[in-house]
Amino acid sequence: MGRLDGKVAAITGGASGIGEATVRRFIEEGAKVAFADRDRERGEQIAAELEAAGADALFVQADMQHAAEATAFIQQAEAHFGVLHILVNNAGIRMYQNVVDASEESWDTMLAVNLKAYAMCAKAAIPAMVRAGGGSIVGTASIRSIRAGSNTVQYDTTKAAVAGLTRSMARDHAADGIGSLRRFLRI
Ligand SMILES: NC(=O)c1ccc[n+]([C@@H]2O[C@H](COP(=O)([O-])OP(=O)(O)OC[C@H]3O[C@@H](n4cnc5c(N)ncnc54)[C@H](O)[C@@H]3O)[C@@H](O)[C@H]2O)c1
Repeated sequence: MGRLDGKVAAITGGASGIGEATVRRFIEEGAKVAFADRDRERGEQIAAELEAAGADALFVQADMQHAAEATAFIQQAEAHFGVLHILVNNAGIRMYQNVVDASEESWDTMLAVNLKAYAMCAKAAIPAMVRAGGGSIVGTASIRSIRAGSNTVQYDTTKAAVAGLTRSMARDHAADGIGSLRRFLRI
């Protein structure tokens, strides 16, 4: 018996790295998983492999910097599986610049992918989790949420903001049964 049996999760940035590992681990633990990524080729490859192994997985190609695509991903996840319990906000990018070098355009991109998309996915997911009777939201932050690196001012800023967003959402939506993943993992 898996620790996520019967649960449905939506995971962003699921076509490589930490996101892909999370998709695979959640499936091992019994979850049904919808995962989004901008990399269609890799996402479809992983979904086909998981399906061939008997897993219940849905890949959605989406560019998280566009709010409409982030929202549509969450809506597709709930529509496909009929319910949504877990959101893992994970897709993230890094740029190597200090505050003097960084352009306005690069700030817009970093904030859109690493922060705004996390809020937009949560905005769509929380009502679905309330319909499901409760849920959990995980945000992939970083040591950079609390410690500065060199020439990664935008990354460090967005990762600190992810920690703040997660704390704020936890406070605002605890009464709706939205909490940490511990509630499902029984840890
Ligand atoms: N790797 C580390 O050491 C580390 C440490 C701390 C935190 N993190 C965080 O973990 C998360 C995953 O990092 P990773 O190392 O697995 O990176 P990765 O580059 O291997 O994976 C990120 C995935 O997100 C996808 N992605 C990027 N921008 C996207 C967008 N606009 N729309 C949709 N998908 C998009 C990429 O295509 C990729 O598949 C990031 O938020 C990163 O900041 C990573």
